[in-house]
This record gives sequence, structure tokens and C-alpha cells, in this order.
Amino acid sequence: MSSTRRLLLFFTLFSVSNIVLSASFGPLAGRDDHDHDHAPLRKRLPSTSWYQRDDHPVHNLFKRGKRDTTSDGTNYAEVGSAAWSAGYPEGKPDVTQLPQEWVDALNAAVAAGKIPNIPPSTSTGGNPTYGSLDPMSDEVCSTTYKCRKNDWIWDAPEGVFGAGFDDGPLPTSDPLYDFLQQNDIPSTHFMIGINVLQNPKEFTTAFETLGDDIAVHTWTHPYMTTKTNEELLGEFGWTMEIIHNSTGGRLPKYWRPPYGDSDNRVGAIAKEVFGLQTILWNQDTEDWSMGEPGSQATPESVQAALTKWIEGPKNPGLIILEHELSNYTVDAFIQAYPLLKSNGWNVVSACQLDGGSAYQNADGDDGTVTHVSSVLADNEPPVSNSSAAAPTSAPTSTGSSVGGASSHAGTSTKQTTATAKSASVSSAATGATQSSAATSMRWHAAVPSTLAAGLVLFVSAVVFA
Ligand SMILES: *[C@@H]1O[C@H](CO)[C@@H](O)[C@H](O)[C@H]1NC(C)=O
Ligand SMILES: *[C@@H]1O[C@H](CO)[C@@H](O)[C@H](O)[C@H]1NC(C)=O
Ligand SMILES: *[C@@H]1O[C@H](CO)[C@@H](O)[C@H](O)[C@H]1NC(C)=O
Ligand SMILES: [Zn+2]
Repeated sequence: MSSTRRLLLFFTLFSVSNIVLSASFGPLAGRDDHDHDHAPLRKRLPSTSWYQRDDHPVHNLFKRGKRDTTSDGTNYAEVGSAAWSAGYPEGKPDVTQLPQEWVDALNAAVAAGKIPNIPPSTSTGGNPTYGSLDPMSDEVCSTTYKCRKNDWIWDAPEGVFGAGFDDGPLPTSDPLYDFLQQNDIPSTHFMIGINVLQNPKEFTTAFETLGDDIAVHTWTHPYMTTKTNEELLGEFGWTMEIIHNSTGGRLPKYWRPPYGDSDNRVGAIAKEVFGLQTILWNQDTEDWSMGEPGSQATPESVQAALTKWIEGPKNPGLIILEHELSNYTVDAFIQAYPLLKSNGWNVVSACQLDGGSAYQNADGDDGTVTHVSSVLADNEPPVSNSSAAAPTSAPTSTGSSVGGASSHAGTSTKQTTATAKSASVSSAATGATQSSAATSMRWHAAVPSTLAAGLVLFVSAVVFA
């Protein structure tokens, strides 16, 4: 299947699931309160005519992040190059091609009783079911049903607005990125792995030019609770890997489940195997469904909902589900932003709600990055049965590193653990990664993604009109 076909299929499936989801969740809260007129959105947009070409010096005046982002010292392939894209699956990750150390880490976590033994869900119209198990039970705790666990983030602190955008990077992200840059707005981009692969230019703008935070939104955007443990490894692992290898070695600390669909098992694999914390939201504009057939959401209803929340109580603070998926969703945020400021919200990047870093091993986008030899949690040694004899408590500073940066000396505990671990990684792990790299060597032209984005806008425009 060509990349274009695959992408079309992805967007088609994505749209279909959105329709199903919007149908099953009913009307948007607050839309019935909406009884005043709005000027057509287009007319209220700030003029974009003064925007300068990308390399114009005026951009430096507004630049927040540093172009020379720090790295862990490893010589990663240039983002967008053939060498960079060669190592990743083009679509749904093949569970037989996963790096062995990920599989070992999963098996170790299961053996240690850290991964709840509940079955994958069956998704019926977007709502997961678990046979005879109650989705709201302690055992399952489905986020689709709004079950809360202490370490899953649903709310922001009082007066704080956690800005985040899902589903990028996409060509439709560009106007959003311009707006974020001009207004110096920090935010988190919950990125879909295959979109990073297809849109390296937008990725680079978000990370380097804006200096924004990058978080995980899975490799192919599935209903995660329907996936087996091994399938989850692929969805998390490859997204971690592409972000790690494209940000100078940073390991994301947060992930957001597509459709908000997670549970105890999925959350535990994220946390125990990859060190990822789950971040959800406490308000949903349903902006993503604008223009979808059957959707109740319109630019006016989305705006009305945003206005209500922004002018409403400050406690808890707001984490609003928003997207960089289309022109409409981007417009919704741009329209609402002045109101956020005039209502005194403290706008921070969604994954810095606790004031910490968006990354497990780095101090933000321009701070120190500690080299890690894999994307696994805390770089714990993958307790592969065959390499169990390798010492893991006595750090070796000279062991050859899988990541190729053994010379990058550091003093933190994490660095020490990472170095120790790299000595115990089985050669099977590297073998698996390399063979999958070799079989999928290809170059991603910008054309397929531009076509696909065009299609999405065209379909939205037709349906919406
Ligand atoms: C990530 O970068 C490391 C270091 O350059 C490299 O060994 C590894 O193959 C890269 N991963 C992929 C999937 O390209
Ligand atoms: C959305 O599309 C319209 C029409 O092409 C354009 O005028 C407007 O600037 C776009 N909005 C954003 C945020 O890019
Ligand atoms: C390790 O291997 C032994 C013998 O092959 C097996 O009995 C045991 O269950 C394995 N342990 C793990 C954690 O896989
Ligand atoms: Zn999403």
C-alpha cells in the first residue's frame, strides 16, 4: 500500500471513529445555552498579511526557544532525512519486529506483578467493554468512563490553564505555530508518531523554533485499551523512540490516550515500561468533530463552550482537549486566546502543570540532556533471562553503549544506571532494530502528507459548507 493510500485510510478511519464517538457521547455540554450571535469567524481573524517568509530576521524577535537545542551528545540522524525515517514502521507496528529489550522489559514488569492482568477491551462505538468486568471497578478503571487514579492527571491547579494540542504535527499545524510564536504561548504537542514521520518540518518548528514541549499520543492513534500488551509496546515504544531521536535524546514524560481511552493495564504499561505519566483533560470542546457529518459541534458551539469555561470558576484549573487537526480547531483556540488573557489565566504548557520538565532526562528544550541507552523507564535493565548474569548494580563507565554515546559522561544516578544497563543489553535487541530498519528503507516526500491534509481540509470544507 502506498503512503498516500495508507494516510487516506488512516484519516478515513479516524473520521469514522470520530463520528461514532460523537454520536455516542451526545450533545456538547453548554451548547444549548448558546443564544447570541457571532460574527463569522473568518472576519474576526487577525490579519496574516504581514507574516514574513520563514527565514526573515523578524522571526528571531519573537523566537522563544533556542534553535541550537542542546542534545545528549549522540549524533542522531537529521530529522527528515532518509536515515532518520528508515528505522520506523510505516503503519501499525509489527509485534514480531519489536526490539527485544522492550519485550524483555514488558515481560519483567508482568512477572513482577506490575501490569494488571485484565483483558483488552472490546470497543463498541467508542465505549470499551470488558466482558463481565465493570469498567469503573478498581481493577479496570477505564478513563473513557472517567475513572480517576491518583497519578493520572485530569485537572490543573487553581487559575492555571494547561495548553496542549493533540494529533499533530500536520500541515494544518502551521497557522497555530505562527500564532503560538507571535504571542509567546507555551504549549505541549501530543504527537502521533506516524505524523512525525510524515511531517518532519512541522515537528522541527514545534520543537526547535517554538521550543515547545513534545509528548506521546501513540504511533497510530488506536483505542489503546483494545490492544494487547505487545501491541501497546509498539504504540508507545516507536513514538518514544522517534521523539527521543528527534529531540537530541529527550525522553518524553507524558502521554495522552487517543479518545481518552486508557485503563489500569494500559496506564501501567505506559508507566512501568516507558516511565510515561498519563495526562487527560477536564473539558472537551469536541473541536475535533467540527465539520464531521452528524456532529453537533460548530465553530459557534465550540467558542461558546470555551467562553463558558474561561469565564467560569478558576478551581480546578483548566485542561481543555484541543487539536491541531484542522483549520477549524486551530481557529477555535486563536479566537479564545484573548479571553484567556483578559480573564487572568496563567497559561502554561500542559505537561508543565507541576512546574517540572516535559522530559524524563532533560531540563526542558534547552537544558542539559542526560544520555540514556534506550527509551525504557528509568533505563532499568531489561531482565532478559539470557543476560541475567550481567551485573547491573556496579556501573561500568567504559561499556559500549547501544545509543553510541558511551563517551558522554554524567554524574546523575540516571546516567550511572543507563551506562550500567547498556552493558547488559542483549545483542538480539540491536539485531531486531536493525533488521526492521533495513526492510523499511524509504524516503518520505512531503507530497503525500500535503495531499492528505488537502483532502482533510477539502472534505471538512465540503461537509461544513
Ligand atoms: C535512534 O538513534 C540511535 C542513535 O543514533 C540509533 O542507534 C537508533 O537506530 C535510532 N532509532 C531508529 C528507530 O532509527
Ligand atoms: C482557515 O482557512 C481560511 C480559508 O482558507 C483562512 O482564511 C484562515 O486564515 C485559516 N485559519 C487559520 C487559523 O489558518
Ligand atoms: C527464565 O528461564 C527459566 C528457564 O528457561 C524459566 O523457567 C523462567 O520462567 C524464566 N523467567 C522469566 C522471568 O522469564
Ligand atoms: Zn488524538
